[in-house]
Amino acid sequence: MLRRTWFSFVRLCLALTVGLVLGAGLTAVAQTSPAGASQGLQPMIEKARGGQCVEEPAFMRRNHMKLLIHQRDDTLRGGIRTGKHSLKACITCHASQTSQSVNAEPGNFCQSCHSYAAVKIDCFQCHANQPAGIVAQQQVKP
Ligand code: HEC
Ligand code: HEC
Ligand code: HEC
Repeated sequence: MLRRTWFSFVRLCLALTVGLVLGAGLTAVAQTSPAGASQGLQPMIEKARGGQCVEEPAFMRRNHMKLLIHQRDDTLRGGIRTGKHSLKACITCHASQTSQSVNAEPGNFCQSCHSYAAVKIDCFQCHANQPAGIVAQQQVKP
């Protein structure tokens, strides 16, 4: 019992530290110019292709995983699909203009933050990491 409490305490501390470090890093990114002096210390996150995020970017930074995971559970177990937090839509807006992907290169949108925060996701074993049109185009290339 004590062991468990201690374990949760350590987990909480870890989570808080990661949150603080990342939060501080992202604030710094936002405050420095593109060629920021402290490059290499923070993730360089590629700009979206345009439009507006499905929620406030600040909210998304902290909570996107909850939206996505939650929706995966809802989709697979409950057959619910609202589409508002669709993973396909994230890819459409956030795929890199150069690699056309969210994770093919270290600087690509999902990858940039995740390698910085040492997060590994398995989503792209099943889901496309490129917008649908582009995947199709590449498949028909000679
Ligand atoms: C084993 C294969 C598999 C893996 C791995 C997987 N998914 Fe899915 N996912 C599916 C299938 C199948 C559906 C249902 C497809 C549909 O409804 O069109 C789905 C649907 C979804 C949806 C709702 C439909 C959409 O396009 O938005 C979301 C969101 C989603 N997954 C997110 C994730 C995330 C985030 C991860 C990684 C943490 C992930 N999935 C990993 C197979 C997978
Ligand atoms: C219609 C286009 C669009 C869609 C769809 C979209 N986003 Fe965004 N997202 C943006 C824009 C624009 C920003 C503001 C920052 C920028 O310009 O890159 C942003 C910001 C973010 C941020 C904060 C990035 C940072 O620099 O700190 C995260 C995280 C994020 N989005 C995740 C997602 C996820 C996950 C999805 C899918 C559930 C999604 N977005 C869907 C356009 C979009
Ligand atoms: C602004 C930085 C940032 C961006 C951009 C970003 N992520 Fe994340 N993501 C994180 C952090 C940090 C975590 C770990 C949070 C935690 O452990 O509580 C995470 C966790 C996740 C998780 C949960 C992983 C798990 O096993 O718990 C999923 C799923 C996820 N991200 C999907 C995405 C997808 C898909 C994209 C691109 C559309 C993306 N993220 C873009 C920072 C980011």
